[in-house]
Amino acid sequence: MKMLKKLLMLGLFLIFVLPVLGESGLPETVYNQNLPSLRDLFRDYFDFGTAISREELMAVREARGLPYQFSILTAGNEMKPASLLDLQECRKLAQTDETAVAVRFSSAKPILDFAKGQGLRVHGHVLVWHSQTPLEFFKQGYIATRDFVSREVMLSRMENYIREVLTWTAENYPGVIVSWDVVNEAVADGKKGLRESNWTRVVGEDFVLKAFEYARKYAAEGTLLYYNDYNTPYEPKLTVICDLLDQLKAEGTVDGYGFQCHFSVNTPPIAAVKRAFARVAEKGLRLRVSELDVGISTATDARLREQALVYTDLFRIFLDYADQLEAVQVWGITDSRSWRSTEFPLLFSSGGYPKPAYYALVELAEAQ
Ligand code: G3I
Repeated sequence: MKMLKKLLMLGLFLIFVLPVLGESGLPETVYNQNLPSLRDLFRDYFDFGTAISREELMAVREARGLPYQFSILTAGNEMKPASLLDLQECRKLAQTDETAVAVRFSSAKPILDFAKGQGLRVHGHVLVWHSQTPLEFFKQGYIATRDFVSREVMLSRMENYIREVLTWTAENYPGVIVSWDVVNEAVADGKKGLRESNWTRVVGEDFVLKAFEYARKYAAEGTLLYYNDYNTPYEPKLTVICDLLDQLKAEGTVDGYGFQCHFSVNTPPIAAVKRAFARVAEKGLRLRVSELDVGISTATDARLREQALVYTDLFRIFLDYADQLEAVQVWGITDSRSWRSTEFPLLFSSGGYPKPAYYALVELAEAQ
């Protein structure tokens, strides 16, 4: 019986473990250094990075492999207003000053400490967004059931929030955060103009210009300021984004545009992505691919190969703009931790094994 069990274990080992052992005898996963390093392969062109969560950093296995594959990190959630605003303290301060803002960095610190310790850069995400920003931020006394504050109070809160976040991070982690998404996803989908949100409701449509004005005022010298959005290849959104960038550029408050790139294998067509890159790039701004993932319906061999082709086509475009492109960042490391985990959109499988898309990028980079 014991013999049978041993044979069974050996069989399982041969089937599931042996095929993924590399020459060094260690499994070839994103967590060790048997694999070619994408950050090294693209070093001459742009930073290669990923979004990361506090949970992933706590999983030591994952954290160990990070600095080997990636040179820049973005906190997936931990540096958004919902994470940084200290509402309890804001409520106390509001009793004497409605414009006062309190922030706390407990959620962001583990990521910033890790980046600092490992010599990685961080792209800050995000100062002003309609989502993951508590309703209380817009309300009198920071109490959800009360009325909205006035435009003037909200602008002061916005300025105070931006100042607090930018100065605290620059003082405590000098040089670590090299760039920020100042405003995220302000442009509407499928119609001309900005999306309606608490920002447009309480401040008005110039909230984007104001956010950039304040960010420029308080950002440390050399920190690049980005407007970040998704669905860039689609009209009329692309035209509205371009007009907004023109306005911000004229005011001297924006440095670049972040293409989110949450794509799927068949959408958008590569030609449309190419056109969008050309339209935005001609403004002479810095560019970044801030949130890349490419969804597929099932993880069959055929679909994984299609996904690899799309990643390759996209990176060909990115390489064409290498002079302007600061970074390409995937929105997560392994499929299981992706916000689109049911679409297997990343370069590494749930177990951390490199997928055909990863190998396709290695091949592309090596051919340059
Ligand atoms: O923190 C709670 C936790 O306490 C709770 O147990 C858990 C149960 O669902 O939810 C946790 O919050 C979730 C949070 O992610 C942290 O995991 C939220 O429900 C969930 O909505 C949130 O999703 C994030 C999403 O932004 C929200 O819009 C994703 O992780 C994050 O990857 C995603 O990132 C956005 C970018 O900021 C902007 N561009 C699009 C991109 C993808 O949606």
